Amino acid sequence: MSTADNSILGLKMPTDPRWVDLASISLEEILTDHAFCEQKAATQCISLIQRYPDKVELVNALSPVVTEEWGHFRMVWAEMKKRGYELGKQRKDDYVNLLLQNEPKGIPVDDKLLHKLMICALIEARSCERFRLLSEGLEEEALRKFYYKFMVSEAGHYRMFIDLAEQYYGHQQVRDAWHQWLQIEANVLLQLAPRGDRMH
Ligand SMILES: [Fe+2]
Ligand SMILES: [Fe+2]
Repeated sequence: MSTADNSILGLKMPTDPRWVDLASISLEEILTDHAFCEQKAATQCISLIQRYPDKVELVNALSPVVTEEWGHFRMVWAEMKKRGYELGKQRKDDYVNLLLQNEPKGIPVDDKLLHKLMICALIEARSCERFRLLSEGLEEEALRKFYYKFMVSEAGHYRMFIDLAEQYYGHQQVRDAWHQWLQIEANVLLQLAPRGDRMH
């Protein structure tokens, strides 16, 4: 079984199978969106470190991920340059914005961390699922291999965010929050039509 199967990732809603066909005819768009996703993954880890500098395990776990995500951005950008693509402007990320709207408001900053880690884990899990689809469904062999590497890497990040949450909140609380967020994510996906020019 692949490391990115939905059953392992826990995702409730499989991606619409038409998505990979749409993506394969808009490679420049998908690579551009992917490049920005990797940038956002790096900045999200930096912002967690800035917000929770007193949490040593968090700083230790996320510091190398910043470097790794930035490395991913550089890999995508290198691939884009090879193809003569331009980076262009950052796009509105409806998927992430809708997830963020569900963050509980007015709770202590230490309780907020649980939800922030769940959102990061979800984005990694969904990215991992999408990379698997690209690694299986794209026509070009080089790109299929390219996306296989990303799939493996984001699966590790998904686990890392869950494990990190368990260090601060304990197994049961993380389990409950994760199930709640899986449902939220499924509802978010239902609100979004599959777009071949977006990673999510
Ligand atoms: Fe990444
Ligand atoms: Fe990641």
